[in-house]
Amino acid sequence: MTKRIAVFNHKGGVSKTTSVYNIGWLLSNNYKVLVVDADPQCNLTSLLLGDSFESYYIDDETKNQNLKDGVSTAFQGRPFPIQAVECYSPERLPNLFLLAGHANLSEYDAL
Ligand SMILES: Nc1ncnc2c1ncn2[C@@H]1O[C@H](COP(=O)(O)OP(=O)(O)OP(=O)(O)O)[C@@H](O)[C@H]1O
Ligand SMILES: [Mg+2]
Repeated sequence: MTKRIAVFNHKGGVSKTTSVYNIGWLLSNNYKVLVVDADPQCNLTSLLLGDSFESYYIDDETKNQNLKDGVSTAFQGRPFPIQAVECYSPERLPNLFLLAGHANLSEYDAL
């Protein structure tokens, strides 16, 4: 059965990102894990993508593969089905997948 763990705290710098990164990494030794970066700072995405972070949001193949673009159909009220997002998986961690964040995700906060 799928389990979901949400890591949330109003306070900054208390290890939310670091905890998700390390817990996700460890759990992926035994389980298939999807980590979702819902923070517009995209620090979790940056940790996992490393040097590929900037090109990820430029390259045609990957620039729309993120949380904001994934849900944009619903938030813009378009009459199309939501399409699945292709989730990045580091070569060294085949059971760990990332739903990348987006710096402008907060545009949808008040909607
Ligand atoms: N267990 C730990 N031991 C020592 N340093 C840690 C630990 N966990 C996190 N840190 C360090 O604390 C700092 C803040 O961690 P992190 O970015 O994970 O916090 P955050 O809650 O996600 O912050 P933000 O609110 O900015 O998103 C980082 O420099 C990180 O390396
Ligand atoms: Mg963080």
